[in-house]
Amino acid sequence: MRTHAVSVLAGDGIGPEVMPEALAVLDDAVAPHGIRFEWHEQPWGSEYYRRHGRMMPTDAIETMAATDAVFLGAVGHPSVSDVETLWGMLIPIRREFDQYVNLRPVRSFAGISSSLAGDPEIDLVIVRENVEGEYSEVGGRAYRGTPHEAAYQQALFTRFGVQRIARYAVDRARERSGRLVSATKSNGIIHTMPFWDEIVAEVVARDGAELELESVLIDALAARMVRAPRSLDVIVASNLFGDILSDLAAGAVGSIGIAPSANLNPERAFPSMFEPVHGSAPDIAGRGIANPIGQIWAGAMMLDHLGYPQIAAQVEAAFTAVIGAGVVTPDLGGSASTAEVGAAVRAALA
Ligand code: NAD
Ligand code: IPM
Ligand code: MN
Repeated sequence: MRTHAVSVLAGDGIGPEVMPEALAVLDDAVAPHGIRFEWHEQPWGSEYYRRHGRMMPTDAIETMAATDAVFLGAVGHPSVSDVETLWGMLIPIRREFDQYVNLRPVRSFAGISSSLAGDPEIDLVIVRENVEGEYSEVGGRAYRGTPHEAAYQQALFTRFGVQRIARYAVDRARERSGRLVSATKSNGIIHTMPFWDEIVAEVVARDGAELELESVLIDALAARMVRAPRSLDVIVASNLFGDILSDLAAGAVGSIGIAPSANLNPERAFPSMFEPVHGSAPDIAGRGIANPIGQIWAGAMMLDHLGYPQIAAQVEAAFTAVIGAGVVTPDLGGSASTAEVGAAVRAALA
């Protein structure tokens, strides 16, 4: 019996609704293979914050570092400032564990028609830089309470940071179509983006000369994603551009409730973190109707990362069949509950 310890952070809102479905699916998926998950469930999040004045205990990073992976639901609550919830939990995990890749696959499913005219097939991967760029820690508020009150945010791109995300994207493009699109905004206004372009081009020339690299301005790329998504395969993007493009692509497929993400430390010096792309969805929390597929698919990405690509493929085949059979939550036009979708995925696995 092989055992994997995983830190489970269900978090806020719909996080605790979708998480149990994913855990049950993963338990069922690995059991026939002599593998067992040891779920280290942590009560961290906004409720914890209200009681303790912080999102996680001071030794949370050490606690998670002793496990093989982190499995996160969502964080964010209407009654706690996003500054506290995000800088107190999600962002420190990504940074402390140097999870500099945020890998976000998006694809169409039989049984879901796309939100786009002509129902195009979508199958792409966003490789999002996950620890620097527009999300740098250099920023703040100034002159509060005066007529000069101000806020500032410094985008900060390092050569090291752009090189390593570009290298990772080159590897993904090699495995797929050989086409790589780099999202940029280098038409003279933003100082950081010509730097991004230069480094991406250098990395591709050195490590992926056989690839077809296209640098596309982010505004035009957003339009292209809805007009011609089939022309896109692997997209490498900065932190903010990748964030926006991933919700756009998932929305184009039909719902952000199905989209997964892997926050990876490819060197495996630290645990990686797996989570759906969506947030805590306070507008539907507590009703049992959240789509659990994003969480389940994130679990499949975790299986792949832990060395079980075949089991990951079985889970993916199971939820693909369930979606194809029309057992879907209201965000996809169905009437199934969160628990019904979870049960259907387990039945499809068996
Ligand atoms: P959201 O992703 O939570 O919700 C956006 C819309 O999508 C809502 O209408 C919601 O009902 C719907 N939706 C999302 N997930 C769904 C699912 N699984 N099934 C069905 N419908 C789903 O984004 P938001 O409303 O902008 O943010 C809410 C909170 O979540 C904020 O506090 C935000 O900061 C936080 N957030 C956290 C994460 C994270 O934990 N990684 C990601 C995004 C947003
Ligand atoms: C995501 C989220 C986060 C991000 C927020 C909640 C900080 O939108 O994981 O996509 O922008 O990274
Ligand atoms: Mn996002």
